[in-house]
Amino acid sequence: MCGIVGYIGNEQAAPILLDGLAKLEYRGYDSSGIAVRDNNEDTVVIKAKGKLSELAEKTDNGSAVKGCCGIGHTRWATHGAPSETNAHPHVSNDRSVIAVHNGIIENHTEIREKLLRQGYVFRTQTDTEAVVNLIDYYYKKYNIGPIDAIAKTMVRVRGSYALAIMFSDYPGEIYVARKDSPLIVGITENAAYTASDVPAILNRTRQVYYIGNLEMGRLTAGNVEFYNLDGDLIEKELTTIDWDAAAAEKGGYEHFMLKEIHEQPKAVRDTLHAYLKENGKGNTVNLEKTGISEEEIRACSQLYIVACGSASHVGYTAQYIIEDMCRIPVRVEMASEFRYRRPPLVRDGLVVIISQSGETADSLAALRHAKEEGLKTLAIVNVIGSTIAREADYVMYTYAGPEIAVATTKAYSCQLIACYLLAIAFGKARGLVTEECVSEYLEELETLPDKIARILEDKERIQWFASKFANAQDAFFIGRGIDYAVCMEGSLKMKEVSYVHTEAYAAGELKHGTISLIEKGTLVIGVLTQSEIYEKTLSNMVEVKSRGGYLMGLTMSGNFNLEETADFTVFVPKTDELFAASLAVIPLQLLGYYIAVARGQDVDKPRNLAKSVTVE
Ligand code: F6R
Repeated sequence: MCGIVGYIGNEQAAPILLDGLAKLEYRGYDSSGIAVRDNNEDTVVIKAKGKLSELAEKTDNGSAVKGCCGIGHTRWATHGAPSETNAHPHVSNDRSVIAVHNGIIENHTEIREKLLRQGYVFRTQTDTEAVVNLIDYYYKKYNIGPIDAIAKTMVRVRGSYALAIMFSDYPGEIYVARKDSPLIVGITENAAYTASDVPAILNRTRQVYYIGNLEMGRLTAGNVEFYNLDGDLIEKELTTIDWDAAAAEKGGYEHFMLKEIHEQPKAVRDTLHAYLKENGKGNTVNLEKTGISEEEIRACSQLYIVACGSASHVGYTAQYIIEDMCRIPVRVEMASEFRYRRPPLVRDGLVVIISQSGETADSLAALRHAKEEGLKTLAIVNVIGSTIAREADYVMYTYAGPEIAVATTKAYSCQLIACYLLAIAFGKARGLVTEECVSEYLEELETLPDKIARILEDKERIQWFASKFANAQDAFFIGRGIDYAVCMEGSLKMKEVSYVHTEAYAAGELKHGTISLIEKGTLVIGVLTQSEIYEKTLSNMVEVKSRGGYLMGLTMSGNFNLEETADFTVFVPKTDELFAASLAVIPLQLLGYYIAVARGQDVDKPRNLAKSVTVE
C-alpha cells in the first residue's frame, strides 16, 4: 500500500515523479504529493487529496515545478484520514528532513511523545511524521550524517517501512531505507531512481537494485551507494529487468483488468512451459529451478498452503487436487489467521506460500513463522526479487508479467498452473502418478491456453448478461469441491470491483441458513464442472429456483441438460475435471468486470483497496 518514487538527475523531476506515481496508483490512491528541490533553493512540497489527476492538475503535469531532485508518494491511508494534511511528503519541524513512507510504524505514539518532550510539534495524524522528526532529532542531537541518523532511527522504530528521504543540507541527494516494505533503486549513467515497484521506472531504466531488509542507500545523479545498519558500505548485485515495457501499459484495452484477463492464455502458457522438460518419451515436470529436490518432495508428509484473498482461493483449489492426486493431507490457511493461531506443524511438512506481489505482510509473516518453526518453505510468487521470493527456501515463479489492476486475474490463473504442476510432481515422486499419467496431464494442461482463448472469444454473451444484472443487490455463488473454490474467486471478483454484495457457498451448505436470503429474482450462480457431484449441485439449484432465484449455470460442454434448470447457461470447453477451475473462472472474471463497468465503477482501482497489502 502506498507508492513511492524518487528521482535525481539532470531533467525536470516533477513530470518524471508524476509519471512514476501514475504507474503505482494501484498501490494507493486517496491522496498524493511530491517534494522537489531546485539546486540550493528551498524544497517545494505540493499535495492533493483524491486521485493523482488532482496533483497533476495542480502542477500542470509537473511542468510548473522546477528542480531536478525530488520524491513523490501516492497514499493508501492507514494512520490519519485521507486529506491534504496527511498526504506525503512529510517535513520535519524546520524542514531539514522531508520524507515519503510506505508501511506502518507501530510505536509511533511512543516516538511522538518522546519528541513532544523535546519540543517538537506535530501537524498531521500520520505515523510518518514521527519518523521524519526522529531522523531530524538524531541528525541534530548527535551532529551525524544522514546515513547514521537514518540508521539510528531504524533501530528505534518498530514496524515496516520503505522510506525516501531528502535532507536540506544535502541538495543533490536522496536517501532510501527499507524494512519489510518493497523499495528498489534504478540507475542510468546520469540519473538514479527509487520506487516501490518496477513498472514505475521501467520506461526510464531496466538496471535495478533490490534494497534488502534493514539496508539503506544514498542516491546521486548516476550513482548509488548502499549501507548496512552499521553504516558500512555494502555491495549489491545489479539486476536487468527483461519485462516488456508495453506489458505494463493498457495496450488499447479500456482497463488493465480486461487486458490482463485477455493475457491469460499467454501467461498460463509461459508459466506451464517454465517447468516442463522433454525426457525422450514426452514432457515431464521439472522443478529444478525452484530448488526443491525429488527427495525432499518424497519426504514431505503434509502440505500447508498459506495465502491471502485470491491466492488463498488458489490454495483451496489445490487442496482438492493434491489430496486427490497425491494422497497427502493439505491444509489451507489464511495467512492472517495462521500467523497468530500458531497451529502445531509437523516437521516434515512443507509450507507453500502463494502470493502475486510477494510482499503481502501477512503472507510474509506466515513464511517467517514457518521458518522459525523449522519447516521448509516454497513460495509461488509473481514478482521477481520480492521479499517472499527472497526469503523462501524454494521459489516457483509464475510468469504472469506485471499485474496492474488491483483485482487479480492472470496471476491467479498462473498460480493455479503452478499448483497443478506441484501436484503432478508430488504425485509422481510418491509413486502415485505414473509416467504415462504425467504425460496425459501435461498434454491436457497444454490445451488450456487455447481453451481460455476460446472462452474469451465469447465474452459479449457475458457482457450482455452482466448488463441485465447491473442493478443486482446480491449474488450467490454455489458449487461443490473444486467448483466451490472457483465460486470463492468468482464471488470475490464480483464484489471487489462492482461493489455488489456477493457470497460463495458450498452448495450443500446453502440450506443450513443462507437460503432464507433467496427471494424472487435473486441472482444465484451455480458452478458444475465435476461429474461426480453434478447432480447434487443441480438439485441445490432447483431448490433455489423454487424459491424464486434467477439461475446462471456454468458447466463444461456436453452437460446440456443444465439449460433445463438454469435461466442462463455458460459452457466452457471440456477438460480434465481436476483442471476445470482454470476454465470456469474466466466467465466469472468477465462477469465481475462487466457488471462493474455497467455500474460505472473504477474497475482498476476499486475503492478502499490496494494491490499490494503490506500492512496487517
Ligand atoms: C483480489 C486480490 C487479493 C490478493 C491478496 C493477496 O483480486 O488481488 O485478494 O489476492 O491481497 O495478494 P498477493 O497475491 O499479492 O499476496
